[in-house]
Amino acid sequence: MTRQKKTDAPAPTVPASCNAPETRATMRGTIDNLLVEERVFRPLPRIAAEATVNPQDILAARKHADADWKGFWEEAADELQWFRKWETVVDETNAPFYRWFSGARCNIVHNALDRHIETVNKNRLALIWEGEPGDTRKLTYFELYREVNRFANVLRGLGVKKGERVLIYMPSLPETVIAMLATAKIGAVHSVVFAGFSSGALADRIEDAQPRAIVTVDGFYRNGRVIPLKPLVDEALQHCHSLVEAVVVVHRAHLDVAMHDDRDRWWHDVMLHQPTEALTEVVEANDPLFMLYTSGTTGKPKGIVHSHGGYMVGVHRTLNWVFDLKPTDIFWCTADPGWITGHSYVIYGPLMAGTTTLLYEGHPLYPEAGRLWSMVERWGVTILYTVPTLIRMLMRFGTQYPAGHDLTTLRLLGTVGEPISPEAWVWFYKNIGRGQCPLLDTWWQTETGMIMISPLPVSLLKPGSVTKPMPGIDVDVVDEQGNSLPPRTGGYLVIKRPWPAMMSTVFNDHAAYVDMYWSQFPGWYFPGDVARKDDDGYIWIQGRADDVIMIAGHRVGTAELEAALSSHPAVAECGVIGVPDEIRGEVAKAFVMLHDDLPPFGGYVQADDMETELMEHVRRELGPVAVLKAVEFRKELPKNRSGKIMRRILRAEEFGEDVGDTSTLEEGPFCLR
Ligand code: PRX
Repeated sequence: MTRQKKTDAPAPTVPASCNAPETRATMRGTIDNLLVEERVFRPLPRIAAEATVNPQDILAARKHADADWKGFWEEAADELQWFRKWETVVDETNAPFYRWFSGARCNIVHNALDRHIETVNKNRLALIWEGEPGDTRKLTYFELYREVNRFANVLRGLGVKKGERVLIYMPSLPETVIAMLATAKIGAVHSVVFAGFSSGALADRIEDAQPRAIVTVDGFYRNGRVIPLKPLVDEALQHCHSLVEAVVVVHRAHLDVAMHDDRDRWWHDVMLHQPTEALTEVVEANDPLFMLYTSGTTGKPKGIVHSHGGYMVGVHRTLNWVFDLKPTDIFWCTADPGWITGHSYVIYGPLMAGTTTLLYEGHPLYPEAGRLWSMVERWGVTILYTVPTLIRMLMRFGTQYPAGHDLTTLRLLGTVGEPISPEAWVWFYKNIGRGQCPLLDTWWQTETGMIMISPLPVSLLKPGSVTKPMPGIDVDVVDEQGNSLPPRTGGYLVIKRPWPAMMSTVFNDHAAYVDMYWSQFPGWYFPGDVARKDDDGYIWIQGRADDVIMIAGHRVGTAELEAALSSHPAVAECGVIGVPDEIRGEVAKAFVMLHDDLPPFGGYVQADDMETELMEHVRRELGPVAVLKAVEFRKELPKNRSGKIMRRILRAEEFGEDVGDTSTLEEGPFCLR
């Protein structure tokens, strides 16, 4: 990882500037920059030869977007179908409540489904689904279209109207996709609640969203067990005030669940005899499409709202550019539909592109650590888009599992959701991608709706860097006063121009939208992350601004300390927090899980030795500023339901404080965002 030898790169081409020693920034409001990763990976000739978007196109697109960003996005919008074109590309009169493609009439489902029925895509596979026990289901675009129409008729029959919410509390099933698309088709608003949430978390979301109907499942398979879900809906509805008139229950796990006569209906009953055609509601581009809850460190979860028009343009453009889709692709994004990645890049993006998307119901390590690789082989997956936490987990099992499967169909890899340490990056690139597949580290958020910073397949890659903003996206790194920072100086990431898939507001709380994202740097969007650029303009995410540690006046991002620790061969996973120190003000404390297959404490006789070894390792990697005061060894680390380590919980435990809202804390089976 840090200061690595360059022998891992297929062709070492480090620009001289990359090798320059990094300076230690001491400016107020800037973040120190400790990690120096020197490996670079050049575009692969085979990928470059087949790329639709080549480096000249990227340069031209950036130039176009900088000269005329509205015209740039207008061109992207022209790649989709509209019932009526917009009057204004983006109406800024009520900023930051930007209205994209204002006046246009559209429906994302027309682009994701209806229009394919008139083309050769009609009989192409839209969806391949695999259940955890190994059962499978495939739906062509035509079959999916008909199922969606039938369920759209069901929803209309239940009295769901345009603009009303439908809450979908489901794992990754074909019916989840059908319910989402049917809701959008009738102009209603879906709110998918991840099936790993408790009834209490569900009740909060019902209370806030006030859905007219809920779609759920009797139970589902996870890690070899059946997890009942419908009883949690009953419990949640007992404990909140709601408008819910109907609960539709998919029969998945053969559970004998209680059904309330006047409210609950089986999916297979209501779908019977429904016509296979349904009108697609014509909506205004800024009419809401869905909301998804994100939880902050305190307070209630916030419903992030996305609208039809801008969202479809942003997702369509970014999927096509980042993953350079081909008609033969089998696209597997391992995210659950309950998260934004599931919405944008499991469902809407791939379907708009007319590609085949793969869904998996279960646990990634069930029945054993080769499950993912056997699925890649079985379905001939060509693009695999996943999260660093899963890569770290799979690394713990070594290379024997991937080596036992044919992964040669893979042509592109992607990650999202948290910083990927250079170690994990290189492991994924080499062992899964065989050194033949560009690894695209994509930065974005629930709020941004679409990928914002990412390499394209033809980009020069640096492990651990999200590289450059997508054309059309204006990103900078600034100090607390909003001054642009020079290269190698960490600061706050800001987005200086609106973009089409941006959230439209926080549901029922417009003030929170302005406060949370637009008040720190008026006129610019603040995502809450800290980052730096290098001399090539490449962006390195250093973590969440809330997680920055101030060591002897140096502001250090936890992501860098964690990346340094992860580069030690004994470390499987780790989380770092700041703790008070008499001399330095604050220093870092690490919580570390060691690799399972090592003897206790990595072969070091005592915990103390291992602790010293890790402290010295971090100091060697990052320099003397990176003071680790203590290392605590753990068998497990608290993670949220998407697998991110929750430093907030580690901090609260360390200081004996109340842990606050834990609704997103992982309980039981591991899950993917
Ligand atoms: O801190 C960044 C981190 O995840 C946050 C957004 O989380 P969420 O809304 O749950 O969406 C995750 C999936 C899009 C960001 O503010 N993050 C996301 N991608 C990356 C990342 N951090 C580093 N590198 C990434 N590629």
